[in-house]
Amino acid sequence: MDENGPPDTTSTQTLPSRQTLPWWQTAVVYQIYPRSFADSNFDGVGDLEGVRSRLDYLQWLGVDAIWLSPVFRSPMADFGYDVSDFCDIDPVFGSIADMDALIADCHGRGIKLMLDWVPNHTSIEHPWFIESRTDRTNPKADWYVWRDQPANNWLASLNTGQSAWQWDDARGQYYLRLFLQQQPDLDWDNPDVEAAMLDTLRFWLDRGIDGFRMDVIHLIGKELDRNDPDSAAVKQHGHVPYNDVPVTHERIRAIRRTLDSYDGDRASVGEVYLLDEAKMAEYYGDHDELHLSFNFSFLWLPWNASKLRAKINSTLAHLEPRGAWPTWVLSNHDVPRHRQRYGGSEEAARIAAVMLLTLPGTPFVYQGEELGLVDAVIPDDRVVDPGGRDGCRAPIPWDAEPDHGWPRGAWLPFVDAADHRNVGTLLQETDSILHLYRDLLHARRANAELHSGTFQMDDRDDDVIVYRRTVADRTAVVVLNLGDSPVTIDGLAGGSILVSTLPRDLLALADGVVPANSAIVAHPA
Ligand code: NOJ
Repeated sequence: MDENGPPDTTSTQTLPSRQTLPWWQTAVVYQIYPRSFADSNFDGVGDLEGVRSRLDYLQWLGVDAIWLSPVFRSPMADFGYDVSDFCDIDPVFGSIADMDALIADCHGRGIKLMLDWVPNHTSIEHPWFIESRTDRTNPKADWYVWRDQPANNWLASLNTGQSAWQWDDARGQYYLRLFLQQQPDLDWDNPDVEAAMLDTLRFWLDRGIDGFRMDVIHLIGKELDRNDPDSAAVKQHGHVPYNDVPVTHERIRAIRRTLDSYDGDRASVGEVYLLDEAKMAEYYGDHDELHLSFNFSFLWLPWNASKLRAKINSTLAHLEPRGAWPTWVLSNHDVPRHRQRYGGSEEAARIAAVMLLTLPGTPFVYQGEELGLVDAVIPDDRVVDPGGRDGCRAPIPWDAEPDHGWPRGAWLPFVDAADHRNVGTLLQETDSILHLYRDLLHARRANAELHSGTFQMDDRDDDVIVYRRTVADRTAVVVLNLGDSPVTIDGLAGGSILVSTLPRDLLALADGVVPANSAIVAHPA
């Protein structure tokens, strides 16, 4: 297999191919939350060697790129999103040598590797902050946002209700922290901060990293003199209009120039947590800001065909005029898993997988969704995350043994269904959701229309979402039947099914009927 995986099996010369498009457009990105992925030294916390030991699995699944949630040195108040050294690996995850080995092994398999860069804040234990808090005149005195009085009424995220202004005895001032008190915000108005942070990108780019997921990137510009509008909805997520300001775009352009100064399509995907799609779209700039921006719209929608259809249409309508490449996300380490959110049924999880992996744009798969996991139940005495997100971070069950591949236990409990929903068991079941994910990933690779075809949504108002992906003379039809009745789709009779949520022996499209609660991807007759 070459760097880009198997060639498209489509024949026409003019087809866009995985060889000519930038990798971040055709890739399926798999999010690894390293603490919970695979544990090589049996200390109960996953690590880089654990990831490396499971690359065979990821290659079998067919992922093109991995995004690793933070592995930098950290006291772990926010499990790595509080960084005390951006240029070192936390010992719990391994060493720089382990990272170099992982980069080499990924690249040897044609898999890209992205790191999670946390530019808005550091840990309270970062040497920059330790110095900054000593007095008001030290060389790092202005690297964080210090004030004699809270400059506004902003509230911190995660543990809701607390002021974002934290009193510091040592300096006799307040510092801004939009997240935990252990996560002071950097002051990006200071050019030295920007320069130092760009250096941290270069450190990893020099080592061969293919790109970065950029944590709450929309927060690196702020207008401190604006108060929080009194809206419960925005307060709940801590993401408010004053965090969307013009200077942020300038800073993102500098970040983009840094990435572009390297060979090989180094990419950014920004966590722009603005649910306003028009605003989110602006962070792509004019092809000079983010390569990709997360689109979190599915995280907040119910499992409802009309709402999903409308959101897909409106998202694309905002992105297309800019030539901005969409992204799609169903689950991540911050929200309850989508199978749970969508009512818990296996059918919904399967249909959602077909949707995620056939929409135009770059899909992000969160580790364990290919097993159809829901969240783990976390007893009170095992709660570790101050933000209440432990359930979706449960360790991956690798097999049906009592320890599920974590011989000395794991830092969080397993999901209840781990005896069945584990990698080893679902690998044996060829009709499992795990095989469905694999089928979808391989179908995307082999059929250009699925990774880069045009998109056309059928105009309907029922429980069925139908869209068509076309490249040259090839069209794939995707039917997502969320309803409780079978549906007949015009033009599908006699077509050939590429992938379906149904057991393989039920696959037939002789009459063009798609059963209730199922999805298919097909080539019409
Ligand atoms: C967003 C990350 O996804 C989340 O896990 C983290 O707590 C906050 N940013 C703060 O870094």
